[in-house]
Amino acid sequence: MADPERSGVDLSRRVFLKSAGGLAAGGALGESALAATNSGLFGDGVERLTGEVEIELTLNGAARKVKVEPRTTLLSALRDRLEPPLSGAKLVCDMGSCGACTVHVDGKPAYACLLLAVDCVGKKLKTIEGLAQGDVLHPLQTAFCEHDALMCGFCTPGFLMSISACLDTKPTATLDEIKESCAGNVCRCGTYPHIFEAAVAAQRVLAGGKR
Ligand code: FES
Ligand code: FES
Repeated sequence: MADPERSGVDLSRRVFLKSAGGLAAGGALGESALAATNSGLFGDGVERLTGEVEIELTLNGAARKVKVEPRTTLLSALRDRLEPPLSGAKLVCDMGSCGACTVHVDGKPAYACLLLAVDCVGKKLKTIEGLAQGDVLHPLQTAFCEHDALMCGFCTPGFLMSISACLDTKPTATLDEIKESCAGNVCRCGTYPHIFEAAVAAQRVLAGGKR
């Protein structure tokens, strides 16, 4: 089920749609993006934006430049436009229904398919690629392996990002709270019991306990 909280920092799906429709007026873009974007002023007084603009995103602690169109979603910027790409966030529904594209925006889970890349300038973004520390998996990733918490794996990055955000903000989260944190994630393979076993096991490890 779609999670309205997940649709962006302060960008609900409704606002997203409005802003997409309002792009002609430039309402959804920052000044720098506006200045750098090819634009034309038509006789009706409406400014239409076309072409690409280079923006800088803070991704997994590093500054990454990427060329996007005003309409490019964060998910598309990550997967299709970054060089090299970050393809861990998955494109499944592309409409805020499944959670496969979940990333962290300033520490909160968000659907990357519902965010415009230009709106993410200045935000701290974390993708699944930033969860491990080098070659050392995050305890949640290890627990997913140990508890067989994935089948096809398409939903897995999204679940990992949702649960890790939950445990980052509330290490003592109850099982119900962990489940609630995944309310916007769907697993078509039905691995939910194993996912929650893994989450609880990871929570123990993060608290200094044993697996
Ligand atoms: S919620 Fe973004 S791809 Fe499904
Ligand atoms: S493991 Fe296949 S969709 Fe979740």
